Amino acid sequence: MEHPDRSLTEDDLDPDPIEQFRRWFSEAQAAGVPMPDAMALATADADGRPSARHVLLRGFDERGFVFHTNYESRKARQLAENPHAAITIAWKELDRQVCARGTVERTSREESEAYFRSRPREARIGAWASRQSHVLPSRQELDDRYAELDARYPGEDVPLPPFWGGFRIAPHAVEFWQGRMFRLHDRFLYERAPTAPNGWRLERLFP
Ligand SMILES: Cc1cc2nc3c(=O)[nH]c(=O)nc-3n(C[C@H](O)[C@H](O)[C@H](O)COP(=O)(O)O)c2cc1C
Repeated sequence: MEHPDRSLTEDDLDPDPIEQFRRWFSEAQAAGVPMPDAMALATADADGRPSARHVLLRGFDERGFVFHTNYESRKARQLAENPHAAITIAWKELDRQVCARGTVERTSREESEAYFRSRPREARIGAWASRQSHVLPSRQELDDRYAELDARYPGEDVPLPPFWGGFRIAPHAVEFWQGRMFRLHDRFLYERAPTAPNGWRLERLFP
């Protein structure tokens, strides 16, 4: 697909990377990018061996980027050992990418509850039924677990599982990449800088 040659200059950028992210995220939504909230999440174990997978970005603000998952999953075990992560979102239709790196904390139980309650009942039962990342001997076992939990919580009142909730990545670096012609892309990196007036230093990088 041919892209228009969009430029990105320092003047286009908000001094705050979260505000800049908000702008690009809305533009991706407005452009009809499919699943604009799907992001690759990289974590590593205590020895620095990496793993990556996609998760959905379920919120962001000045505190960072939030996703929700099973706290006994592989990614959560890695984050317990090594609370650093990187995320990457590509909006191919706009020839754009955002990458962020930061430290990770669990969100509060109240936040996880609020998000969990907003999900369809079937997805809440599904969260209970899945021992995410553990060996599953047969599909039947998952279906049986679902049926059992469906019967245990017959109404709308499906509580938040103790092993499920959000993580927030507090970024110390956020990078915005705009594809351009001839590999002469525009690329800017925000890094936390306590001495900078707004706490962020902004630099252009070679693409
Ligand atoms: C587009 C997309 C979105 C996903 N979103 C989530 C999510 O928000 N949370 C989650 O736990 N898994 C999500 N998954 C599944 C994960 O990629 C992954 O398989 C699962 O979380 C187990 O990962 P782990 O074993 O590395 O912990 C998503 C997968 C795809 C393809």
